[in-house]
Amino acid sequence: MKITLVMAMTADGKIARHGAHFPDWTGKADKRMFKQMTIGAGVVIMGSRTFDTIGKPLPGRLNVVITRHPERYPSSENLLCTADSPEIILSRLTDRGFTKAILAGGATINSLFLRARLIDDMVVTIIPVLFGQGLSMFSEPMNAGLELIDTCKLAGGVLVLHYTFIYDPNMPSIDSIDNAPIPGA
Ligand SMILES: NC(=O)c1ccc[n+]([C@@H]2O[C@H](COP(=O)([O-])OP(=O)(O)OC[C@H]3O[C@@H](n4cnc5c(N)ncnc54)[C@H](OP(=O)(O)O)[C@@H]3O)[C@@H](O)[C@H]2O)c1
Repeated sequence: MKITLVMAMTADGKIARHGAHFPDWTGKADKRMFKQMTIGAGVVIMGSRTFDTIGKPLPGRLNVVITRHPERYPSSENLLCTADSPEIILSRLTDRGFTKAILAGGATINSLFLRARLIDDMVVTIIPVLFGQGLSMFSEPMNAGLELIDTCKLAGGVLVLHYTFIYDPNMPSIDSIDNAPIPGA
């Protein structure tokens, strides 16, 4: 199962102004690409706060919504709400015949998947706007290398960056970085 993280980001590195920010700022070209990629994969995975900003399942693809309270959401043919771990979710999707899935945020759920080193690649669209403050792509410190494999430009000055993740087994874990002594302190 290949997991691709797809994120729109401002030129100053924000994915939203706040947790309830409706994503109406990314423009038509980004939305078209997101639709193509998620329908192509057949499944889009997101956190409950992101789902709440959208308000309904995206049509034509399975929407997997991660929440600790799945009972809050009515199930439907293309909506699966779950409190399962990322590993279990991916294994269930594989059992259903999916070979790839798009991870679509937000920051909290991105962190859950990256901590488990389950993200294979990442497509970032840089939208030519600035927020100054807001949410980053991850909600906690992270440690992974990236290799840039492709770039392209979309209408409206949107830049697309495609990276693969490099998980170096020798790279220190986040916990060891968090606890490392600060040089000179
Ligand atoms: N720019 C972009 O491309 C992009 C993409 C996606 C989202 N966004 C933005 O990101 C913002 C939302 O991001 P966010 O970080 O606040 O929220 P999020 O990642 O979408 O969802 C977080 C929620 O997931 C549930 N959760 C967290 N850990 C869990 C676990 N271990 N197991 C099960 N459920 C868990 C919790 O909700 P429960 O109370 O339901 O358990 C938590 O509040 C929105 O503004 C959205 O528009 C931007």
